[in-house]
Amino acid sequence: MIVKIFDDERQASHAAYKIVRQAHENGAKVFGWATGATPELLYEELVNSDIDFSDSISVNLDEYFGLDEQHDQSYHAYMEEHLFDEKPFKASYLPHGDNMDVDDEIARYNQILEDNPVDLQILGIGRNGHIGFNEPGSNFNTRTQLVDLTETTIEDNQRFFEDKSEVPTKAYSMGIQSIMEAKAILLLAFGKGKAEAVKAMIEGPVTENLPASILQKHPRVMIILDKAAASLLQTKSTEPEANRA
Ligand code: F6R
Repeated sequence: MIVKIFDDERQASHAAYKIVRQAHENGAKVFGWATGATPELLYEELVNSDIDFSDSISVNLDEYFGLDEQHDQSYHAYMEEHLFDEKPFKASYLPHGDNMDVDDEIARYNQILEDNPVDLQILGIGRNGHIGFNEPGSNFNTRTQLVDLTETTIEDNQRFFEDKSEVPTKAYSMGIQSIMEAKAILLLAFGKGKAEAVKAMIEGPVTENLPASILQKHPRVMIILDKAAASLLQTKSTEPEANRA
């Protein structure tokens, strides 16, 4: 695991942008994307860049179960708004939240992942250490699955909905095994609210109770943090000034 700490979210997101750009220049074809607040500045930089993704493929980590792609809080809608409208991909895949045939959707998405092995996977992390929507207790040996969101996650996601009763309680998510099959992983975490999960992910034991801790076993992972998210870490490796441009 390489851990880099930046003064603030903007500098950290810029570093993440440079890594995505480099991967694209080096021939990465399949990009795995996350949604949520964390990657928004990264997407903003990608949108404002001259990178051409029209020959690239994208696959997303997850989608709410029960929302069709037109729903304004679906992750389809998020990706259109934050990236795809400005930067179209040759193909962009997300789980179909409105496919009520769970076995069919799981098989469909697993096939997509098998046909399009991810070169670079972007991840955020939940306050409870989830990656994708693999909540604490998720088996490490899972591919796409329908998951029950925990109360913490539902509360965290409530800010995007008018009422808590509207927040979906289930989601389709790439499993931990699918995430671990990405050739390289870039996880971003910002803010004090993530500090405990970040510490457990990097310095704690590898345990299914803290799903992100499995990343300690991946050969190519970079963790990009702002100071607040890194505040509880014992060992702090700050990014040298010279590398920040
Ligand atoms: C989103 C996802 C989640 C988020 C995590 C952090 O596609 O898979 O794991 O990355 O919940 O969310 P934010 O960035 O909103 O704090």
